[in-house]
Amino acid sequence: MKNKTFANQRIGVFGKGGSGKSTVTVLLARALRQSGYPVVVLDADSTNAGIHQALGFEKPPVSLMDFFGGPVFTGGRVSCPVDDPTLLPDATIDINSIPRQYYAADNNGLFLLQLGKIGDKGPGAGCDGPIAKITRDLRVQGAGPQAATLIDVKAGLEDSARGVITSMDWIITVVDPTVAAIQIAADIQTLIARIRAGELPATFHLESPELKALANRLYREARIKGAFALLNKIRDERMESFVSQKLEQQGVSIIGAIYEGPAIASAWLEGKPLEGVKEEKDMMDALKRLERMVKETAPLETAP
Ligand SMILES: Nc1ncnc2c1ncn2[C@@H]1O[C@H](COP(=O)(O)OP(=O)(O)O)[C@@H](O)[C@H]1O
Ligand SMILES: [Mg+2]
Repeated sequence: MKNKTFANQRIGVFGKGGSGKSTVTVLLARALRQSGYPVVVLDADSTNAGIHQALGFEKPPVSLMDFFGGPVFTGGRVSCPVDDPTLLPDATIDINSIPRQYYAADNNGLFLLQLGKIGDKGPGAGCDGPIAKITRDLRVQGAGPQAATLIDVKAGLEDSARGVITSMDWIITVVDPTVAAIQIAADIQTLIARIRAGELPATFHLESPELKALANRLYREARIKGAFALLNKIRDERMESFVSQKLEQQGVSIIGAIYEGPAIASAWLEGKPLEGVKEEKDMMDALKRLERMVKETAPLETAP
């Protein structure tokens, strides 16, 4: 069978805090499902309470941080990729063979896994680094043929600095109408260009030559192929063209715009599924444009 554009691809959703990463993740998960992909959503933001409800699940899954034995700060195995770039051991998991509490699934090809929460970990353990390592290294199998993975990443640029960016195929940066959100989209664009041009990561803090070499290799072999902006919380056409122009001036490609809609805000406030909102159509249009742009960016890899 011919591979669909996003089969076996990892799409990272990046952007400023509150810009709408989780909103876009949920709407995009639905759009991908409608386009025939099984979808694995990875909640990689330790502060993302409520995403399970928005996706239509009653309970959040238990976090994979527990599955992997906890962070080093509390005696576990999961270290921060900045201090320790080594790969997380046994990071490829199969949904059909892990205990049921570690994922949520509907009957329709949608899966949710939660990578880690730090809210209840107590003083001194609240660092997102180990979550970033799981985000970077986790591969989920067993969701079905042609599955796409969507990763709702921690706000800002921290996680891309921690190397998470190296294991994404594509990035969508959510841009709300602020200077700060536009800047993050431009910074991600530049970062990817530098990685693709072969620039190596900062490793001055690593003493061991092996660890330096490993960090370099991870960046040299990075999968990342491109980033695109998706506008969100837009109020009118004037605002849309202003934000679009600013992004285009910085060389950022745009896949679409989602307008501010009261039904989206209510769903998040009331803990209800984010479905049946009229913005779903804008998301489907954006997905189609993304598909076209991705095909122009890189030839499809053939299935192994
Ligand atoms: N298109 C939209 N229309 C209206 N409200 C929105 C829209 N997108 C996001 N919001 C509101 O903004 C808040 C933050 O969105 P969220 O997706 O949680 O952002 P992030 O994941 O980037 O922190 C949500 O609680 C929601 O109420
Ligand atoms: Mg979020």
